[in-house]
Amino acid sequence: MKEPVWDVHNVVAGIDGSDQSRHAATVSADIARKNGATLHLVTIVRPPEGWWGIVGSPPTPSALSKSLTDAQREILDSVVAELDLREIEVIQVEDVGDPARMLLEYADKVDADVMVIGRRGAGLIERIMLGSVANRVVHDAQCPVLLVP
Ligand SMILES: Nc1ncnc2c1ncn2[C@@H]1O[C@H](COP(=O)(O)OP(=O)(O)OP(=O)(O)O)[C@@H](O)[C@H]1O
Ligand SMILES: [Mg+2]
Repeated sequence: MKEPVWDVHNVVAGIDGSDQSRHAATVSADIARKNGATLHLVTIVRPPEGWWGIVGSPPTPSALSKSLTDAQREILDSVVAELDLREIEVIQVEDVGDPARMLLEYADKVDADVMVIGRRGAGLIERIMLGSVANRVVHDAQCPVLLVP
């Protein structure tokens, strides 16, 4: 018999607090449970405009205003609290930087078998198209991407 071509060991979900990302969290948890996979819930704090160019590298979490990282932590905690995580190995990740780039790098690092993200996110602009993070992830990911509404 042929080897299965899609074995799911690592599921990465992008969490930004939006309803779509909550949906992504639920879907990713189900995928992880049904496959005995590790669930990686990743939230990225986008540094305030202007923090980049000048110093050339992203600020460390401690250099960021505490309220920003605290707020993101709360977002992740509230999403996690709503999930049924029984029987799932869960890794929560909070990092600072450009969300799309960081999500892509993280997925590569853990050899993700699927990334689950919302079509849109917490951005305030009403869109008919994909959000910018979703757009970049779909274009550049090295693994299958599941977009949830
Ligand atoms: N900072 C983040 N950390 C983790 N995942 C994120 C982050 N931002 C977005 N995502 C993921 O990407 C999905 C799409 O969000 P995206 O940011 O592309 O849309 P948007 O906020 O509506 O648009 P934009 O940010 O371009 O204004 C979200 O539902 C979430 O799954
Ligand atoms: Mg966004």
